[in-house]
Amino acid sequence: MVASDVKPDAQDDKRRVFSGIQPSGIMHVGNYVGAIRNWVNMLDSYECTFCVVDLHAMTVPYKAEEMRRRVFEAFAVNMAAGLDPGRCRLFVQSHVPEVTELCWILMNCSSMGELSRMTQFKEKSEKLGGQVCAGLFTYPVLMAADILLYKASIVPVGDDQTQHLEFAREVARTFNSRFGETFPEPAPLLSKVPRLMGLDGKDKMSKSLDNYISLLDDKELIWDKLRTAATDPARMRRGDPGTPEKCNLYAMHRAFSPQEDVRWAAEGCRTAGIGCIECKRCLAGHMAEELAPVRERYAELSADPENIRRLMAEGARQCSAIARRTMEEVRQKVGLRQL
Ligand code: AMP
Ligand code: TRP
Repeated sequence: MVASDVKPDAQDDKRRVFSGIQPSGIMHVGNYVGAIRNWVNMLDSYECTFCVVDLHAMTVPYKAEEMRRRVFEAFAVNMAAGLDPGRCRLFVQSHVPEVTELCWILMNCSSMGELSRMTQFKEKSEKLGGQVCAGLFTYPVLMAADILLYKASIVPVGDDQTQHLEFAREVARTFNSRFGETFPEPAPLLSKVPRLMGLDGKDKMSKSLDNYISLLDDKELIWDKLRTAATDPARMRRGDPGTPEKCNLYAMHRAFSPQEDVRWAAEGCRTAGIGCIECKRCLAGHMAEELAPVRERYAELSADPENIRRLMAEGARQCSAIARRTMEEVRQKVGLRQL
């Protein structure tokens, strides 16, 4: 089951929401429209917990001396994008170590067969050649542990995570049937742009493919990148009509432009009333307008690292209290710790 798009005013008696993001150094507009903007819209209607998943980031080769900076930046960008720690719990995964214990317990409720079917594992391990560690294989178990530790039932993510969510539900079901009803089955919640393609128009926007616009790019850089971005190949010449639904720029318009400009772009594309450059210029304006305050807030936040560290500690403190409670219940149910 996939929950429908979020309405900011959804009255859902504060159901628990959890989601995570990797500290990958860059946060791009795909992450933003696929996940984070949805998270921000949920802050007041749900009980929200969001996490910078540094333990997940260890599953591919990385430099230890860069990890701390990446985590710090990811925390600050998330805040700059609108995750207000006063309205949600925002924390760093490794700061609440109970998740690794739950992960181990859930490892024993996880099927090897299911894990080996994970598309993301196949893709990532192919890229890594022979250098695949066991952590990459069991990545979805840690993700299930993240969600279940906080007993979240709604998980707002981009569509590349729906298979992992299916897996997390299976793990919850297995645990509940073996040890008694403990965890709600978490459902993914997709935004209206659950998969934004990259500037090449071929693959999903991602950091590793270098086909992205960063949340921190300025107006000039945004325009530079959009100017050369791929559009509907049918529009070879200015007079050739196109199909907006086949154009990635149209998907970006739907994500960033007001309704009347989305209609203008669709109509102009279909009738060749406008050229791709005009269409891109309009989009660049709206995107830059939405991202400018994010960039400004980021600059302010990163100028005060002490404050970020304080907020990280506070997020970890709030989450630890929940994590400890869940783990006491879990240990009891699985037959551990009879002191
Ligand atoms: P990651 O950076 O892989 O940790 O992803 C963080 C969140 O952004 C996840 O919910 C992803 O599903 C989502 N996401 C990543 N790339 C895209 C994309 N190109 N379009 C839409 N959502 C995305
Ligand atoms: N695997 C997710 C991604 O790559 C990040 C993540 C880790 C996550 N734990 C999570 C997402 C728990 C949702 C819920 O994007």
